[in-house]
Amino acid sequence: MSQKTTETSSRGGFASKLGFVLSAAGSAVGLGNIWRFPYLAAKYGGGIFLLIYLIFAITFGFTMMVTEIAIGRKTGKSVIGAYKAVNKRFSFLGYLAALIPGLILPYYCVIGGWVLKYTTSFVTGSGRDMANAAFTSIDGTELTFFENFISHLGQPALFFVIYVALTAIVVIMGVEKGIEKVSKILMPVLLILIIGISAYTLSLDGAGEGLRYYILPNFRDFTAEKLLKTIAGAVGQLFYSMSIAMGIMVTYGSYMRKEDAIEGSVRQIEVFDTAVAFLAGLIIVPAVFVFSGGDAAALNAGPGLMFITLPKVFDAMPAGQFIGAAFFILVALAALTSSISLMETVTAVVMEKFRLNRTKSCIAVVIATLIIGMLSVMGYSVWDTVKIFGMAKRHSVQSFCTTL
Ligand code: PFF
Repeated sequence: MSQKTTETSSRGGFASKLGFVLSAAGSAVGLGNIWRFPYLAAKYGGGIFLLIYLIFAITFGFTMMVTEIAIGRKTGKSVIGAYKAVNKRFSFLGYLAALIPGLILPYYCVIGGWVLKYTTSFVTGSGRDMANAAFTSIDGTELTFFENFISHLGQPALFFVIYVALTAIVVIMGVEKGIEKVSKILMPVLLILIIGISAYTLSLDGAGEGLRYYILPNFRDFTAEKLLKTIAGAVGQLFYSMSIAMGIMVTYGSYMRKEDAIEGSVRQIEVFDTAVAFLAGLIIVPAVFVFSGGDAAALNAGPGLMFITLPKVFDAMPAGQFIGAAFFILVALAALTSSISLMETVTAVVMEKFRLNRTKSCIAVVIATLIIGMLSVMGYSVWDTVKIFGMAKRHSVQSFCTTL
């Protein structure tokens, strides 16, 4: 036991319960809450999806998160070591759980780079140009700003590298001085931003109709098959949104203080995560409704929603440049605290497996992330002509983003 305690403290840890809760909530709140949750809710019958999601969150989601954090705290190890310590036969689960954040991280950072680009454009006042720009590709097809942006190598690569660097700086600074400190600042800012923006979009003329569409259960055309799809959609979203089954909560749990209550913390993390997802819907659904004149199909634009439809929506609303800037700052903060948790989980594994210090381990993770992520950046630009399984670029962008 004494050995375990020394081991845990030498790995560093959260200094307070609030720091742990905000860091874990930072992992949970991400692109999934702001972009994916609202369009899933709109797609699967509004209030019906919200209700099903909530039921799963307070039952299944709660139990899963408590279990993962408990495994982490009890063993005080990275996800691979933790599952092995529980039972040698479960070692493979640790490897599996470590592989997933390793694979998600590069792609998450590529999209994080896109978000940074949009944030800087809105903050520097060129959001309006972005919404209305139209380009023509070499083969004569018309491209939106987004499609044109990702089809070039330079800027997406630059913003991707900046995003990875920002994430790595926090991870290198450590659990208490990096992750905890940053989360304690960014998460309250995120909350203020999302409450402010949703209050604004709800005050727009015509927002009430969108609000009804989002909140009230829509039983029209709701078949048994659609119910099953809604359940599957809600469970998938729950895993992704709460960062469950990816070793994240095991890792963060391993840094948690022994004297803090796990159940109470998970309750707070879940409330934070679900509230942000719900509020994101209060921004996106009514805003898109007002913009599209009540056309719900605009919400089903899927991946294009955040990078193509929303800039147009901001462009059309009063003070849109300002609201757009606030919105993309919000998305950037949410994404950053999530990628920090992904990078921390993989770094902790490298530290433990290869007995390297935090900085060296993190640099190794950064190098791997840059290589894999760069392949994806190139896949949209210089390798654009390479068709995978006969898919045109436009389709591959769509399928890539839906896997998010
Ligand atoms: N929970 C984050 C989101 O909703 O965007 C994403 C995420 C972070 C997924 C960390 C998985 C993970 F391990």
